[in-house]
Amino acid sequence: MLDVLVSKIREARRITVLTGAGVSAASGVPTFRGAGGLSPSTNAQATLSKAERWRHYRASELATPEAFGRDPQLVWEWYKWRREKIASCDPNRAHEVLAVWTKRMPHCHLITQNVDDLHVRSGSERLIRLHGSIWELACWKKCGGEPVAWRDERVPLPEPLPRCVHCGGLARPAVVWFGEALDPAAVQAAGAATACDLFLTVGTSAVVYPAAGLVHEAKLRGAFTAEINVEQTPATPIVDLAIRMSAEHALDAIELRM
Ligand code: OAD
Repeated sequence: MLDVLVSKIREARRITVLTGAGVSAASGVPTFRGAGGLSPSTNAQATLSKAERWRHYRASELATPEAFGRDPQLVWEWYKWRREKIASCDPNRAHEVLAVWTKRMPHCHLITQNVDDLHVRSGSERLIRLHGSIWELACWKKCGGEPVAWRDERVPLPEPLPRCVHCGGLARPAVVWFGEALDPAAVQAAGAATACDLFLTVGTSAVVYPAAGLVHEAKLRGAFTAEINVEQTPATPIVDLAIRMSAEHALDAIELRM
């Protein structure tokens, strides 16, 4: 199976890789779904500290503007925990191999749903970040100050509720939440990248749209499609080749055969 993918990579002129949280799992970043993913704690409320109240909720219940509007501190506590976790993680072999591909192959595009910036840290080129970066903040009230999003890599963030650098109002993580529109430029670039010879989806549960639709689009446009995941996903039955392996092991093995 890996050999089939190796020869498809060798033949392809344009390669597009879509990544999800599974690519960062070996770095120690928790996934949202799947085995070992973030899921609500069944512990009694009393056993969790105030800063860990978020453990009672699913990611889809926290990553929404409604949740932030209701209880910004709860949502910030979740993001602060994730920022601290990610700050202690380094890119793994999967990030490294994908970065090497983008450098070696001028028509290799990388699309990620991950907000951890590990693809950035591994030096990937032509990276499209669909869901933003956990290291950027923006004004909750959209005050209009420029830049709209600014980088803040302080860990831990000193304030319980971070403030907008322009208006002093409440700041939010500059990531895309459920129910929000993605950056049109990123969506456009990702759509354009589905015009490729090989579309590879790696470490994503393939349930969150519009990212999950890209593999379908690539297939319709004639690409050979492949998936690398430790579990079956809704993309598995539609791809031409499904490889049931971890991203870090599969990509390392592929790179060794190249
Ligand atoms: P998920 O957590 O939904 O899925 C992670 C996938 O990675 C699962 O299918 C796992 O089986 C797989 N996996 C785990 N470890 C792996 C490994 N070492 N190698 C390969 N695969 C592995 O993450 P995403 O698909 O990225 O959005 O989630 C999509 C979006 O849903 C996220 O960007 C986020 C989330 O809610 C927002 O917050 C808007």
